[in-house]
Amino acid sequence: MKMWILAVLAALAALAVGASAQSCTCATMKWAVCDGTPCTCTLLVGNGTKQPIDCTALVPKCFLMKAEMDRARRGQSTRTIGGKQHETAIVDNDGIYDPECENDGKFKAKQCNNTDVCWCVNSAGVRRTDKGDQTLKCEKLVETHWVRLQLTHKERPTKVNKDNLKAAIANELNSRYKLNPSLVKEIQYDPDARMIVVDVKKEIGERISDLSRVAYYMEKDVKVLPLFTDQKRNFTPSVDGQDLEMEKIIVYYVDEEPPTITMKHLTGGIIAVIVVVVLAVIAGLLAVFFFQKRQRKYKKTQQREMEQM
Ligand SMILES: *[C@@H]1O[C@H](CO)[C@@H](O)[C@H](O)[C@H]1NC(C)=O
Repeated sequence: MKMWILAVLAALAALAVGASAQSCTCATMKWAVCDGTPCTCTLLVGNGTKQPIDCTALVPKCFLMKAEMDRARRGQSTRTIGGKQHETAIVDNDGIYDPECENDGKFKAKQCNNTDVCWCVNSAGVRRTDKGDQTLKCEKLVETHWVRLQLTHKERPTKVNKDNLKAAIANELNSRYKLNPSLVKEIQYDPDARMIVVDVKKEIGERISDLSRVAYYMEKDVKVLPLFTDQKRNFTPSVDGQDLEMEKIIVYYVDEEPPTITMKHLTGGIIAVIVVVVLAVIAGLLAVFFFQKRQRKYKKTQQREMEQM
């Protein structure tokens, strides 16, 4: 009897040791270096600086971007960028920079990417003003209270049930990113475009949830590779017993205050349209002119031929 209990205890002890050895990895950050008992993890964020991180939650985007810049400098990672403008929402068209973070992982309102060119960012680290010099003032960090995740899923032989899809997305957002379900305000689905639009929104003034982390982890999941240590799975909600794979994502950020970016690209676009229209008109006029000239010539030769006859 006693031997039996001892054997069980020994087995349990062995299991516990095994589990603790195994759990000394960082679930939410595959690049983290973990060590010791209790297990602590740090992330290299440039110049050999080791940033301690909490691996039970998503890592702040500012730390992740610093780590990514550091890795890029050492030739270890790549990043794809892209997107288009949409209403007052802003898209991260600038791509990666080396951000300055507060101790708790928040972005500093003013960012300069180690250069003389500076700009103001929102709480997701996305530029929301024009670029200026070192004297630029950013009064405070403006909070992103709404992110719109626009996903396109890969083609599937069978039709996707709309309601099941919505439920699966909400479920996956909660289980994968620990996103509070009450923040998922709306999920829309367009089967023809294979497009899913998820609105994650919090109350203005709420400073507990950080929408930028969910958006960033999701962007990485779809565009590059998961940031999680367990890389077996991507963001693939299971719909009707089948994993739905995503092929595209665009993230729109809506801040508590509208951005003050001047639409330079828009005026550029308008100028381009005007140039094209003017060129088309000139081409049209030239065509008419030459056509008439040729017709006149034709009539003349015809007349001459008639006279000769
Ligand atoms: C930040 O600087 C790096 C190189 O130092 C550059 O590759 C990157 O494009 C810059 N990012 C922005 C947003 O200016």
